[in-house]
Order: sequence, then structure tokens, then C-alpha cells
Amino acid sequence: MSPQSTSVAVLIGTIVIVSLMRPDCTAIRENNEGFKLCVTSMRGVKDLSHQNITSVPSSLSNETQYLDISYNAIQTLEGTEFSGLSQLCFLKAAHCGLREISATVFTHTPALKILNISNNDLPFIPDISLKQLKILDLANNLYTSYELPACFQNFTKLDFLSLGSTAALSVSYGDFDALMNVSVQHLALGAGTHWQKYESGSLAKIKSLKKLSLFASFCGTLGMFENLLVDLNVTQAKMLRFISLFPDSCNVSDNPFKNLRTMPFIQNLTLENTWINSTFMVVFMKNVWLSPLHELSFVNITYNEDTPDGFHLPTINHTINLSSVIFNGVNHYQYRYPTINMSFEAFSRLTYLKFSGTGMNILPCRVMTALPSLEILDLSDNLLTESGFWWTPCSHSSVFPKLRKLSLSRNRFSSLSFISQKTHQMNTLESLDLSFNSIHLDGDCYWPAQLTELSLGNNNLGNSVFAYLSSDFEKIDLSKTGITSIMQKDLTRFSKLTHLTLSSNSIQVIPVDLSVPALLSLHIDQNAITSISREVLAGLPRLQKLKAGGNPFVCSCDSYWFITAFNKSLLVDWPLDYTCNTPLSFAGLPLSEYKPSKLSCEMWLQAAVALPVLIVISAAVGLAFHKCDGAWYTKMLWVWIRMKRRGKKRSNILNNASFSYHAFISYSNQDSDWVDTHLVPTLEGAGFSLCVHERDFVPGEWIIDNIINCVESSYKTLFVLSKHFVQSEWCNYELFFAQHRAISVHRDSLVFILLEPIPTNSLPKKYLRLRSLLRQQTYLEWPKDDRKQQTFWASLKSTLHIADKSVVLKDIAVAISDTVPLVADQM
Ligand SMILES: *[C@@H]1O[C@H](CO)[C@@H](O)[C@H](O)[C@H]1NC(C)=O
Ligand SMILES: *[C@@H]1O[C@H](CO)[C@@H](O)[C@H](O)[C@H]1NC(C)=O
Ligand SMILES: *[C@@H]1O[C@H](CO)[C@@H](O)[C@H](O)[C@H]1NC(C)=O
Ligand SMILES: *[C@@H]1O[C@H](CO)[C@@H](O)[C@H](O)[C@H]1NC(C)=O
Ligand SMILES: *[C@@H]1O[C@H](CO)[C@@H](O)[C@H](O)[C@H]1NC(C)=O
Ligand SMILES: *[C@@H]1O[C@H](CO)[C@@H](O)[C@H](O)[C@H]1NC(C)=O
Ligand SMILES: *[C@@H]1O[C@H](CO)[C@@H](O)[C@H](O)[C@H]1NC(C)=O
Ligand SMILES: *[C@@H]1O[C@H](CO)[C@@H](O)[C@H](O)[C@H]1NC(C)=O
Ligand SMILES: *[C@@H]1O[C@H](CO)[C@@H](O)[C@H](O)[C@H]1NC(C)=O
Ligand SMILES: *[C@@H]1O[C@H](CO)[C@@H](O)[C@H](O)[C@H]1NC(C)=O
Ligand SMILES: *[C@@H]1O[C@H](CO)[C@@H](O)[C@H](O)[C@H]1NC(C)=O
Ligand SMILES: *[C@@H]1O[C@H](CO)[C@@H](O)[C@H](O)[C@H]1NC(C)=O
Repeated sequence: MSPQSTSVAVLIGTIVIVSLMRPDCTAIRENNEGFKLCVTSMRGVKDLSHQNITSVPSSLSNETQYLDISYNAIQTLEGTEFSGLSQLCFLKAAHCGLREISATVFTHTPALKILNISNNDLPFIPDISLKQLKILDLANNLYTSYELPACFQNFTKLDFLSLGSTAALSVSYGDFDALMNVSVQHLALGAGTHWQKYESGSLAKIKSLKKLSLFASFCGTLGMFENLLVDLNVTQAKMLRFISLFPDSCNVSDNPFKNLRTMPFIQNLTLENTWINSTFMVVFMKNVWLSPLHELSFVNITYNEDTPDGFHLPTINHTINLSSVIFNGVNHYQYRYPTINMSFEAFSRLTYLKFSGTGMNILPCRVMTALPSLEILDLSDNLLTESGFWWTPCSHSSVFPKLRKLSLSRNRFSSLSFISQKTHQMNTLESLDLSFNSIHLDGDCYWPAQLTELSLGNNNLGNSVFAYLSSDFEKIDLSKTGITSIMQKDLTRFSKLTHLTLSSNSIQVIPVDLSVPALLSLHIDQNAITSISREVLAGLPRLQKLKAGGNPFVCSCDSYWFITAFNKSLLVDWPLDYTCNTPLSFAGLPLSEYKPSKLSCEMWLQAAVALPVLIVISAAVGLAFHKCDGAWYTKMLWVWIRMKRRGKKRSNILNNASFSYHAFISYSNQDSDWVDTHLVPTLEGAGFSLCVHERDFVPGEWIIDNIINCVESSYKTLFVLSKHFVQSEWCNYELFFAQHRAISVHRDSLVFILLEPIPTNSLPKKYLRLRSLLRQQTYLEWPKDDRKQQTFWASLKSTLHIADKSVVLKDIAVAISDTVPLVADQM
């Protein structure tokens, strides 16, 4: 793949991504007046076109504002279809094969402003009444006469009416009577047929008529056409548009436009879809030059040079009011350059020239120098290149003396550095449009200081484009130029920048440190931006217009500031073009309807609310904990957890050892009451065998030997600790530990039961070992509370019972389930 095709592929890739992100309705919205006039929420839009339906669905929401049921097979509208649609403002039912519309069908839709029932089979102009109607399109139906029913008197707000039927071949004097007192300004009339009759005075009845679009042809009946112009002079029409005025086969030898010379109100004239011979052109232009016309347009014409020396006009020595000439689509019948013999002085007052869609690849030399007043030149949509526009044989000493705006859009220009150099010849040029070319960044650009506006849209340029622009630029259009990111350093140079357009790129983030102090208007629609932050707009203090729709907004707190606090009057496309994209549950929701709560989104508010709540909760938990002896339960739980963890290790040892006793119990005589009545019965009742200090000691042996024997033949050693024990008995064990260091290391075999609290700090310093044991070892506290004693016993048994884990766990479970409901009761 060549580098060029790679970059094209990249551009296509970008376009595809961007178009995938567009909301579905963009297509109907473009250039759609009805959309602007009627739609306030995307929920009001219902497009049912091309659905093969045969009747209007009855389930339409009463919020419907815009309804399109075109291209279906709905042959009748009988009466109740639109009941309940009180907000319906736009209805389009074109190409439906409609044959009948009952008089009552629109009684339920009083708000209807735009009705398009063109391209159907209606045999009569329907008898309908709609007071708010502004636009009514009845073109391309099958009625046989243009006579309007009396109900049209009631269309007091009607502005545009389109009538046309291939079956209606004549216009009669009374046809438009109903429009006499109606404010209709623009009438489109005809269906492209050749009229047989036009009765003088018919159109003059429409007193308010200022603009006529006539789609009818005349050949051999040009007197009829002249009468029509006289009537339009009566209504003081300003704008005339004639579509397919002469059939291709017609030899127009008369002068049908001579009335133009005496129509003082006429301003704009358009000839469209017509074959124009040079002989006709000469006659026609003489009329134009003598008329007050300001603007003359030729749209989609076929130009045929039927005179041998081309288009030839004599010198004219009176002022011509024509200031604007448009050629938009010219097919050259001869497939060669037209020969134009005329003095350009005739165009001395021409300020606007558009020469578009003509296939031009070389600009005639004289255009550059001989149009002294030309301010705007539009050469878009031709085949011009650098060498064709700045054609070498031409002298470029005085180029466009007054030109301010030049459009070279949709041509074949490629070198930005070359163009930047050449613009220095055009001393007054302020604005240059190079969009839709194949522009490359092929070297440093030096722009003249007077040039302040540049459009490079729809060229594949990339992120580095900013380096090739002049810091004098005030308006920059970089839409669809393959930009993926912008940075503050790209824009710092542009201190005069007021308008920046970055639409349809792949920008994901607007830098927060952006600072363009002069910027008034920013377009960043159709990008990949997920949110707009307060910081970004802080750097744009003078911003008056922001367009940011069509971005994949995230509906979360990131958009909170933009939705709630941002001044929406700055947004030109709010709210229609703003929808949530993520999270999935909000996808498609209009951003204006996403309502994040203040609490969930404001950090300081969260903290302000959370802190007291946290304090209250902790206090409550703490209180409950204290009340229910939470600390005690926690400690028990801790014992149990440690038991479980050690269980595995111990069971291996147990398997390889044999003991005579489960436990050796050591206690002070002072505590024998508790041991005899509680401890021994409970444990022995549970099947444990115990070696009880003194009871099972062998008489006559030294106490330490007794202890050692008992400890060695017991699985655990259980100390019943109390102040008495510490004072009276502990010294024996200091001795014992001194002799059997090895056993003492094996601490797991020692179990401490605390009959009463003994703070470790209160112990005499000499009991170092006890202090450290109590600190490191888990001990069981004897609870005074009956209910807790259950848990105590369970824990104790489990420490002894470790050999059979399942029993331990069961005991604990039972003990805990016994106590938990009670704890709950207490709370
Ligand atoms: C509509 O019907 C025609 C023929 O009945 C069929 O060819 C076409 O696919 C249908 N279109 C849709 C959108 O269902
Ligand atoms: C639409 O219908 C709903 C109930 O279905 C009703 O609450 C609402 O007011 C109606 N809106 C209008 C504009 O009629
Ligand atoms: C009515 O619909 C037809 C068919 O889509 C369209 O060509 C025409 O422009 C519409 N009329 C108006 C006034 O928009
Ligand atoms: C015009 O509207 C009024 C009131 O809505 C109605 O009485 C009258 O009959 C209508 N006129 C025509 C010619 O339909
Ligand atoms: C139009 O208004 C004039 C007076 O203002 C009246 O004489 C005439 O009858 C009206 N025409 C129609 C068709 O309403
Ligand atoms: C147009 O009307 C003016 C008066 O407003 C009149 O002088 C002129 O002759 C009329 N022209 C035509 C062609 O009817
Ligand atoms: C233009 O001239 C050709 C002959 O060159 C003729 O056949 C045709 O009818 C003419 N068309 C018009 C509109 O004058
Ligand atoms: C067109 O008509 C004129 C006069 O009516 C005639 O002189 C001329 O030859 C005709 N041209 C063509 C191509 O028929
Ligand atoms: C241009 O005009 C020709 C008739 O001169 C017509 O057949 C064709 O459809 C027109 N094209 C457009 C795009 O209007
Ligand atoms: C051109 O316009 C001026 C006023 O702007 C007017 O006096 C003059 O008659 C017009 N020329 C023609 C040929 O209509
Ligand atoms: C009519 O002509 C004037 C002057 O050239 C221009 O400004 C205006 O836009 C034109 N109006 C239409 C509807 O083309
Ligand atoms: C052109 O102007 C001259 C005077 O400057 C005058 O004699 C002549 O008749 C004018 N020609 C036309 C065609 O108006």
C-alpha cells in the first residue's frame, strides 16, 4: 500500500467511527426546517418511514411532535389516526399512495405546523382546516385542477404552499381565490408538465406572494409566460425560480424575459434544470443588464454554444445592478471550454461570483484581474489544482484587487506550503477555504498577515496541523481532519483566535489547562469526548458559543457540573444533540433528562454528610458493642478462629502421641469451689478425663515432679488464674518452667482461664514469664453472665477436643446460635 492509500484508509476509518457514534436521527435533522421548528425533545420524534405499514399505528405516544410515515402503503387517512396527538407539529406522509384524506382527520392535531403529503395519489386537494399550519406540501399528486377549496381561507399563518399535479395542465382565474387574504409568501407551483392555459390575473390574487418556484414548461406559448410575469409584478415578487422552463427540444427564439426590464421589485432570479443555448443567453443577458436584478443563478444547466463565435455581448455603457452571479452545475454540451467574448466591464459591480460544479481545471487569466469589485469568489467543486488555478501563462501581477473571500473547496489542491506562499499575491484576502481537497502538510507555511480565516476541513492532516497555521488566524476550521488529541501548547500561539471548529474528529479529551483568551466560538461536536469540565471552560473566558453535541457523553458525576451548572444558552445544539452513551443503562437517554443527585456528585457535600453519619453510626455500633459485651464475644470468636487454624497441625501430633488425660488442671485452693462445682463436672460430664491438681497427685512425691508427670501425660495444661493463684501457686510453675524449658516453648499446650481480671501490669515484676505468656497467649475469661457461660464452655471444650474437629465445630456452632438471638434481643 502506498503512503497515500494508507492515509485514505485512516481517514475512512475515522469517518466510520464518527458516523457510528452519531445518533440515529441525524439524517432526518440535516437541513430540515420542520425539525428546528417542531422538535424540543428527541422523545417527540417518531420515524416510521419505509416500514411497510398499511395504517398509522394507534400506539403513538401523546408526546409525539414529529411523525414521518412516508414510503408506506397508507391509502386513506380516515379520522381517528391522530387522536390524542395534541402536540403533533410535523407530519410527513409522502410516497404513501394516499388517495383519501377525510375532512376531520386533523381535528385532533391543532398544533400541526408542517404537513407534507406530497407524492401521493390524491385526486382532489383535500378539504382540511389547520389554523397553525405554516408549511403545506401537496406537490406531485393527481388532482386535475389547482382550484383551492374555501377552507384554505383559514390557513391564516400559511407561509409556504407547494402545489403540483401532472393532471393539472391549466391555471384558471379563480383558482387561488382562497389565498387572497392569507399571508402565503412562497408558492411552489407545477409538476413539470407543459401548461395549456394560464389565465391572466390568477397569481396576482395572492397579494402577499413574494417568491415563486415554477416547475412548468413553456414552448410556443411564451405569451402565457409573459402574462405570468406581469401578475408577479403586481404582487411585487422579489424572487423567481424557474425549473425546466423550456423543454430540450424547444427552439426559443423569442424574448420571454423582456418584462424583467420593467419589474422594479425583482431581485433574484434562478434558472434551473434547463438547456440554455448561447443565442438565448445573449438575449437573456441583455434583459438582465437592464433590469434591477441583484442576483442571477444558473443551477444544473446544459450550456450549448450554437453560435459559431461563442457567447458574444456588445459593450454596454450603463450601470448594471447585478452584483451576484452563480453558476452551480454546468454541463458543457460541446465538451470544450466555452468561448466568451464580452467586456468584463459589464461586471464591474460584481461582488460575488460562484462558479461551481463546472468541471473547470484552468482558471481563465482575466478572471483574476478583470473583476475589480469582486469580493467573494467561490470556485468550489471543480477540478482545479495549484497549477490550474495559478496557471503559468497568466500574469499574476494584479490579482483580485478587492477579493476578501476565496473558496477552493472540493477541488484537487494538495500543497499547503505552496498555497500559503501564493496567497501573498492577494493583498486583501481575509478568508480561504481549502476544505475537501487532498491537502498535505508538505513544508513550512508562511501566511500573509491579512489572512485571518482558514478552513482545512475534510483533509487528512493529523495532530501536527497547528504548527502550519499562522498566529494571526482568527477563525480556524479543522473539522474532520483526523485530529486525535489537542494540547495546550498547540494553541498558545493563537492569541487572536476567536472561532475554532474541531467537529468530527476523534478528540477524547479537552485539556484542562486550555487557555485561549479571545475565543468566542468553539465547535467540538462529533468527537469522542465523554465529559466537559469546569476547568476547561475556565480557560475560555469570552466563550459565547459552544457546540459539543454528538459526543459519547458519560452519564455519571463527570457530567454533573456540565448538566447542572453550565449556562446552556451558550450551547447552540442543546438539548437535542446531547445523549448519554455510557453507562449502558443510560445509553440513548437525552443528557438533559439525566438527573444526577447533588449529594452523590459533590465531594464536599458527600464529606459534609458522610462525616456526621459516620460518627453517629460508629457511636451506635460502639454503644451496642459495649451494651452487648461485644468485646467479650469478639475475644471468644478470636479463640475459636485460632483453634480452627491450629486444629490441623495439632491433629497430626495427636495422631502420633498418647495421653492419659485431656487436661491437667492447676488452680489455687482458694478457687477450688469454682473448680469443683463448675469446671470439673462440666468437662468430665462432656467426657474429658482430667488430672486435677492435688486430687490426682501421687502422695509423697515432690510437687514439681507431680506437676511434671501430670503435664507430660496430659494433652493440655489448664491454669485457673486468679489473684490467689498468682500469689500462692505460680512460683511452683516458675520452677517447673525453669526445669522444662522445652515444654514451655511448646506453648500451645497451655490454656489460661481467667476467673477474675488480672491486668498484666499489676503482676509482680518477677513473674516475667507469666506476664509474657498472658500477653502472647489467648486466655478465656470466665463470664459472670449465664448466657455467656455457654460460649465459654464451648470454647474451652473445643480447646481440649481438638482431636475431633467436627465435634468442636458443632459445639461452637450450637453455642453461638444459642447466644446470638439473645444478643439480637438486647439491641
Ligand atoms: C416490504 O414489503 C416488500 C414486499 O412486500 C418486501 O420486499 C420488503 O422487503 C419489505 N420491506 C420491509 C422493510 O419490511
Ligand atoms: C399523555 O398521556 C399521559 C398518560 O398516558 C398523561 O399523563 C399526560 O398528561 C399526557 N400528556 C399530554 C400532553 O397530553
Ligand atoms: C416533502 O417530502 C418530499 C419527499 O420526501 C420532499 O422532497 C419535499 O422537499 C418535502 N417538502 C417540504 C416542504 O419539505
Ligand atoms: C374557518 O374556520 C371557522 C372556525 O373554525 C369555521 O367556522 C369556518 O367554516 C371555516 N371556513 C371554511 C371556509 O372552512
Ligand atoms: C378578503 O378580504 C376582503 C376585505 O378585507 C374581503 O372583501 C374579501 O371577501 C376577502 N376574501 C376572502 C376570500 O376571504
Ligand atoms: C410593474 O409594475 C410597475 C408599477 O409598479 C409598472 O410601472 C410596470 O410597468 C410593471 N411591469 C410589468 C412588466 O408589468
Ligand atoms: C438549442 O439549440 C439547439 C440546436 O443547436 C436546438 O436544437 C435546441 O432546440 C435549442 N434549445 C433551446 C432551449 O433553445
Ligand atoms: C429557431 O427559430 C428561429 C426563428 O423562429 C429560426 O430562425 C432558427 O433557425 C430556428 N433554429 C433551429 C435550430 O431550429
Ligand atoms: C439537471 O437537469 C436535467 C435536465 O436539464 C435533469 O434531467 C436532471 O435530473 C437535473 N439534475 C439534478 C440533480 O437536478
Ligand atoms: C439600479 O439600482 C438603482 C438604485 O439602487 C436604481 O436607481 C437603478 O434604476 C437600477 N438600475 C436598473 C437598471 O434598474
Ligand atoms: C437574493 O439576492 C441577494 C443579493 O445577491 C442575496 O443576498 C440573497 O441571499 C438572495 N436571496 C435568495 C433567496 O437567494
Ligand atoms: C453609450 O454612451 C454614449 C455616451 O457616453 C451614448 O452616446 C451611447 O448612445 C450609449 N450607448 C448605448 C447603447 O446606450
